[in-house]
Amino acid sequence: MAGIVSVEEIRKAQTAAGPATILSIGTAVPSHCVLQADYPDYYFRVTNSDHLTKLKEKFRRMCEKSMIKKRYLHVTEEILKENPSMRDYWSPSLDARQDIVVVEVPKLGKEAAVKAIKEWGQPKSKITHLIFCTTSGVDMPGADYQLTKLLGLRPSVKRTMIYQQGCFAGGTVLRLSKDIAENNKGARILVVCAEITAVTFRGPSEMHPDSLVGQALFADGAAALIVGADPDTKIERPLFQLVWTAQTIVPDSEGSIDGHLREVGLAFHLQKDIPGLIAKNIEKSLEEAFKPIGIRDYNSIFWIAHPGGPAILDQVEEKIGLKEEKLRATRHVLSEYGNVSSGCVLFILDEMRKKSLEEGKATTGEGFEWGVLFGFGPGLTVETVVLHSVPIASAH
Ligand SMILES: CC(C)(COP(=O)(O)OP(=O)(O)OC[C@H]1O[C@@H](n2cnc3c(N)ncnc32)[C@H](O)[C@@H]1OP(=O)(O)O)[C@@H](O)C(=O)NCCC(=O)NCCS
Repeated sequence: MAGIVSVEEIRKAQTAAGPATILSIGTAVPSHCVLQADYPDYYFRVTNSDHLTKLKEKFRRMCEKSMIKKRYLHVTEEILKENPSMRDYWSPSLDARQDIVVVEVPKLGKEAAVKAIKEWGQPKSKITHLIFCTTSGVDMPGADYQLTKLLGLRPSVKRTMIYQQGCFAGGTVLRLSKDIAENNKGARILVVCAEITAVTFRGPSEMHPDSLVGQALFADGAAALIVGADPDTKIERPLFQLVWTAQTIVPDSEGSIDGHLREVGLAFHLQKDIPGLIAKNIEKSLEEAFKPIGIRDYNSIFWIAHPGGPAILDQVEEKIGLKEEKLRATRHVLSEYGNVSSGCVLFILDEMRKKSLEEGKATTGEGFEWGVLFGFGPGLTVETVVLHSVPIASAH
């Protein structure tokens, strides 16, 4: 019928030509910084647990082996004094925790988002979509709505809220933003991951030493990106292209990481075999991602791996035969910020492109063309993202 546009034509007009591209990155942390070397004394004191001397020594060993120098935490000694139920291992305390995170998670997300929007350099009215991701509390309307209000985004911005996915979700947000950018021509997506450990902080228990692992590693932080396809290079600067994504459940891994939101807050369980399970299965994910591109040497790509803990990085490094420098950016972020859960991999992207510029590398990916980003978390779930760097000259 003349004059009426076909579905195929509409579809064609909706689809972007090029791949989704990261156009800017911003990060934020709370102002309260704790040094890991001081943390065992602090943690046992503020939770009135100094009498648990053996557990304290175990916790000290975990902190020493964590490879973390410092972490940023919203929850201070004063906040714990006002909310004593959060200091126990197992006291009803969800209301106190929710009161903190429902307000603070969107605020921390905003700080990171403002930086990402500033670097992007475009008016926020051009943001068409928002993806907000957190495992720190739940609410209705969600943190995505609160951030829209805090930032003054358009009411018609299309929001996606991702709650309770845990540490792998830094990969999930990239996978979703790629699908949205490539299927909605002109879309500019604000992606935000924000975590505040007020939901998981709890005192030690002799019956649950695995809880101490999370207490030694987890930290607060937010990261934000602007993602869009077909950048207008007169006004936008591409940093990384998102080329391929996958999500998979690791075989025989059920229950190795889980978290349950109860009256006592979010209770995490981390089994000891997590690093081994990830290392054993990672080659399969790499092969699936890089065989079609013709890459077999995993030292010839740049690496961003969720630093769930140093044992995960050590075992992956050994299994793949990675050169020491491959996980430099990853280990740096773990050391400077701790495990900020979903935001970690985005902090590492930021560190990598900045260091690449500083050191005069040819590309945003430490001079390499292709790269891999892995999210690891509950399930066990692995998110894989194949990245393509851009020449530094066009990124800055
Ligand atoms: C926790 C960690 C930093 C300790 O470092 P390490 O090099 O493994 O050191 P060790 O094996 O000596 O462990 C230190 C202590 O932690 C204990 N420990 C380690 N993992 C544990 C777990 N999952 N549950 C209970 N205890 C654990 C060890 O038994 C040991 O106790 P001990 O000193 O009383 O013998 C390291 O195991 C790690 O990175 N684990 C991965 C954390 C993880 O799963 N993160 C996923 C979140 S996404």
